[in-house]
Amino acid sequence: MAMTLQEFVTQLELFRLEAGRAFASAGDRAALEAARIEWLGARSGRLKQLQKALGQLPPVDRPQAGQRFHQVRQEVQQAFEAAQDRLAAQQKTAAAAELFDPTVPGLRPPLGHLHPITQTIEQLKEIMGRLGFSLADGPEVEDEWHNFEALNIPPEHPARDPLDNFYLATACQLAGGGPMLLRSQTSTVQIRVMERQKPPVRIIAVGRVYRPDTPDQTHSPMFHQIEGLMVDRHVTMADLKSVLRMLGMSYFHAQVHIRFRPSFFPFTEPSVEIDMSWQGRWIEMGGAGMVDPNVLRAVGYDPEQVSGFAFGLGIERLCMRQHGIDDIREFFRNDVRFLQQF
Ligand code: DAH
Repeated sequence: MAMTLQEFVTQLELFRLEAGRAFASAGDRAALEAARIEWLGARSGRLKQLQKALGQLPPVDRPQAGQRFHQVRQEVQQAFEAAQDRLAAQQKTAAAAELFDPTVPGLRPPLGHLHPITQTIEQLKEIMGRLGFSLADGPEVEDEWHNFEALNIPPEHPARDPLDNFYLATACQLAGGGPMLLRSQTSTVQIRVMERQKPPVRIIAVGRVYRPDTPDQTHSPMFHQIEGLMVDRHVTMADLKSVLRMLGMSYFHAQVHIRFRPSFFPFTEPSVEIDMSWQGRWIEMGGAGMVDPNVLRAVGYDPEQVSGFAFGLGIERLCMRQHGIDDIREFFRNDVRFLQQF
């Protein structure tokens, strides 16, 4: 399987991440040894396969690829040794714990682990962080300006229908302020960031959103989205596609393809639905597009000077696909037997 230099470097990067993760998560010596054989094994480990692929690259690419290969090999070897040290230290602690001394300050008891949605969120933040996107935040109780108006959704727009949103009777409103609602999308954070910051902007926002849907296998009145926004001079759809592709490849640890289908959102023009192919199937990931000039104007940016892309993806959907979960309600039932599997 001859590869291009680009493919080789991508595979090498995936190897670095995944092997590092495997060593770091090995819970005992047997698991670490199994991981060593899988990733660094001299006969058919993944490193060996990469070495073969290196030998099949066009000769001009080999010096550069080889240099990177050696760096990665060293780094992964170090990750392995660090895991060995960690396990040795753990064993020492375990041995020491047998001599029970009630005067020693307590060790923290095992406290379970992170919810699968939290794990997915952590992974997405890490991936986007590596691509240079910092984390932004906004409130879950929003005003109409941030949830609608500034996003180019005018008062008469059907998206504002009280039946499709959780409007709240708040003290603010009772005191004569505008209506407030539980945010229906994380796109609100785009506006909050751009209002307080000049371009360039490169952020993600992650959090809960609320819609009065009847719960079923694929709907929940509360779910999570990840929003991305990049505004600068000369930002294009090609940048959008590359970022989404990197996101997909890192999240699924595989080659993925991104497909755009024409769509409409009030806050982007053009707008697209994003599909991603993974394991031979297309997955709908969410929506995206180029930030509408009206949105840029609403926050005081000059659409003649800057352009931007934005996207919004459903986090439950990504997590469900990754783990083969077929009912969104499982995430919120919190049956320990379900949660223990992740
Ligand atoms: N906010 C949209 C939704 O909730 C998703 C979305 C579409 C976000 C396009 C974006 C975007 O940032 O550009 O369905």
